[in-house]
Amino acid sequence: MSRYLSRRGFLGLSGGVALSAAVGCSTSMTSGELLRSRARLPKPFTVPLPIPAQAVPVVDASGASRFEVVQRAAEAEILPGTRTTVWGYDGTFPGPTFRVRSGHEAVVRVRNELVVPTSTHLHGGVTAPESDGYPTDLVVSKGGYSPAVNAAHQAMQNGGHGGHGGHGGHGAMVVRPHQWTTHDQAKDYVYPLAQRAATLWYHDHRMDFSGPQVWRGLAGFFLVTDAEDEALPLPSGERDVPLMICDRAFEAGGEFRYPALDPALIGTPGVEDDFMEGVLGDVVLVNGAPWPVLEVDAARYRLRVLNASNARRYRLRLDPEPPDGSPAFVQVGSDGGLLERPVGHDRVPISPAERFDLVVDFGRYPVGTEVTVRNTLGETDGTREVMRFRVVRRARDESRIPERLSEPRLPTRGDAVRTRTFDFRQTKRAGARVWTINGRVFDPDEHLADPALGTVELWRLSSDFHHPVHLHLAHFAVVGRGAGAPAATDAGWKDTVDVRPYETVEVLARFDGFKGRYMMHCHNLEHEDMAMMANFRVT
Ligand code: C2O
Ligand code: CU
Ligand code: CU
Repeated sequence: MSRYLSRRGFLGLSGGVALSAAVGCSTSMTSGELLRSRARLPKPFTVPLPIPAQAVPVVDASGASRFEVVQRAAEAEILPGTRTTVWGYDGTFPGPTFRVRSGHEAVVRVRNELVVPTSTHLHGGVTAPESDGYPTDLVVSKGGYSPAVNAAHQAMQNGGHGGHGGHGGHGAMVVRPHQWTTHDQAKDYVYPLAQRAATLWYHDHRMDFSGPQVWRGLAGFFLVTDAEDEALPLPSGERDVPLMICDRAFEAGGEFRYPALDPALIGTPGVEDDFMEGVLGDVVLVNGAPWPVLEVDAARYRLRVLNASNARRYRLRLDPEPPDGSPAFVQVGSDGGLLERPVGHDRVPISPAERFDLVVDFGRYPVGTEVTVRNTLGETDGTREVMRFRVVRRARDESRIPERLSEPRLPTRGDAVRTRTFDFRQTKRAGARVWTINGRVFDPDEHLADPALGTVELWRLSSDFHHPVHLHLAHFAVVGRGAGAPAATDAGWKDTVDVRPYETVEVLARFDGFKGRYMMHCHNLEHEDMAMMANFRVT
């Protein structure tokens, strides 16, 4: 870490940006610190890939689908022969997959039966502020811990504002007691879903504790479908497979391992100093299973890949590569739904919270081939592997990938009514290292931008480290990366973008849907918990 601090020390902000050509991404492949498991780890590619259960509406009246999910602790067998306590929506990790139609309102009642408060955010959703899962808008379980009630006690315990003893104090505790909103046991989140079909996901967003709470399992898929998407001849049904990739570490007995300063997740927030850059596990899970295997037909599959890791970036490739020399993956969709045209990639870099909708044609391989998804950014044998597909049979395949997929109507530079700059950076505050945006730690009372509803703005995002930058509400197009054009993998509507060390990424964001308070933040969950968030207000 010191290398970033010292570099920034004499180069300053613009110097840091200029440095990108010289250091590129070679200085820092890693986006966090490796936490090793103490458990015996299974042999890769032995556990079958689980497919999360689908959420079913409990009532279906007046055109709105009503769902109810219960956040609770449950035991799961993640490493064969051991037990892991997960905190899951309906007690499962990943939580149930919601499949809902664009334009049809969904109301999701989230009932909290955990000992800690939660806030549920629909990532990629165009949602009114009161249902957006703001970090201080909490559901508190019966008899569970409530920061609103316990704030005074908590402040004492932490030695007041910003005090974190000798630890990497990070400017949390900026939230004053009166600012909490609490809901008793349950909250109805209203999702109008007046948006394109896309692979969204939902996860916990509790102030200061999203990292550990997502690590324990509070995340799931939320798939929005529409007539346009369904009319395409893309692979569907059993051949439309959501893949939630995330890394974890395990204690000897099988419990999740995480370096929280307070493992009870009620007192001091944050992680041990060594993990300030982010927590990386040594086990790669897909849909909650370690290095799983899926038996597939020799046919096309649509893989909806989500990186739900706290801090780990992956660059996915297929091994072996397709024998016919065609691109390993054909991307048909991004965070915000279908691309205009399919784009072929041999490597797919994916940072936390990004989604890639990829078609892989296993018909290119002889039956009997084992096709392994590998991660070229892994730092250990285990983290270089993701999962395996076993091509087991010939099968009919009526799917195809059309030349034109959709009309995403992305904004162009001429649409931008103004330009703003946001710098994501670690700074020093009273001797402690803090993650900041434009030099500020998160303050719920402050906003850094006030875009007008219905307008497009050019936002320039610069950084000192790997920061996957996410905007709530607003979807955007990436129009510049470093000195040049965006990468091929930046295509389409996005809500999260991989900003690399000493790089500036330009996005054109459209502020549509609702007025009010929203947030932007780094989606490295350790950075987010350490206050790398900011409000913007749509006016
Ligand atoms: Cu997926 Cu505010 O986050
Ligand atoms: Cu979000
Ligand atoms: Cu970050």
